[in-house]
Amino acid sequence: MKVLVATEKPFATVAVTKIREIVEKGGYSLTLLEKYKTPEEFCSAVADADALIVRSDIVDAAVIASAKRLKIVVRAGAGYDNLDLNACTGSNVVAMNTPGQNSNAVAELAFGMMLYTARGGFDGETGSELLGKTLGLHAFGNVGKCMARIAAGFGMKTYAFDPFVDKKIMIEAGVTPVDTIEQLYSISQYVSLHIPANDKTINSIGERLISLMPPGAVLVNTARKEVINEVEFAAVMEKRNDLKYLTDIAPDNAELFASKFAGRYFFTPKKMGAQTEEANVNAGVAAARQIVSFFATGDETFRVNKP
Ligand code: 3PG
Repeated sequence: MKVLVATEKPFATVAVTKIREIVEKGGYSLTLLEKYKTPEEFCSAVADADALIVRSDIVDAAVIASAKRLKIVVRAGAGYDNLDLNACTGSNVVAMNTPGQNSNAVAELAFGMMLYTARGGFDGETGSELLGKTLGLHAFGNVGKCMARIAAGFGMKTYAFDPFVDKKIMIEAGVTPVDTIEQLYSISQYVSLHIPANDKTINSIGERLISLMPPGAVLVNTARKEVINEVEFAAVMEKRNDLKYLTDIAPDNAELFASKFAGRYFFTPKKMGAQTEEANVNAGVAAARQIVSFFATGDETFRVNKP
């Protein structure tokens, strides 16, 4: 049986070595498709694969239709908005993610961007500190928890809004839960997004929420660019020249930001929240183990599509 690792943005070599060890020990062969340039290349590589490991690679209906032998696809990471779950279910393909495996890397990047901005991009001028500032976590899942741990070290006052998480869990993590999303945006000098991209969240962060942020506030987006209503956001940035935006992957209207909001934004050149050796190993190894265990015992833990 063949396991295909298809990564347009490859895992670190050490992660690939560990994935290979697990797959081969399970009695399967591993094929690598890295830095591919077209969806056709992906479709052709997946044609004889029994299992598939991807990162943010688009697994749409065309990929699933090409994958005649595919039984399982594992998104090595948290967000699975790149998988067409209906197409997977329609072809009896089990879809999984590996929640929590790359969370610390994402949180560290968020803090890296926050510090960089607080110190004016290390330009030698007077900056500001994180100590004593308010941080609002929009969602308190695996990344939110890592954010809270790091924020405690910096001496920030951390708040969180997440209707799906018991407030006790937030309190135990040293975080103050708030009852409404409006409250979170109103009190936070830094708001950090940790929501998935889905029907409910896409375009959900717009004028209504961003306008509530206090003077000099910073919005930090290591989640997905799709959750921002870019038109409304740009309009608020134009009205309020105190606001800043830090994001892991440029928005679609990046050129507008470059022309109008110089010095008030930072975009990573390529999505790199999970781009550490440690995160690659954690997520890649988890994906490989989930595949071996699925074939060995039918284990469907971390399945995200309907049977
Ligand atoms: C995730 O959802 O796990 C992150 O966005 C990481 O995505 P990546 O594997 O493409 O870096």
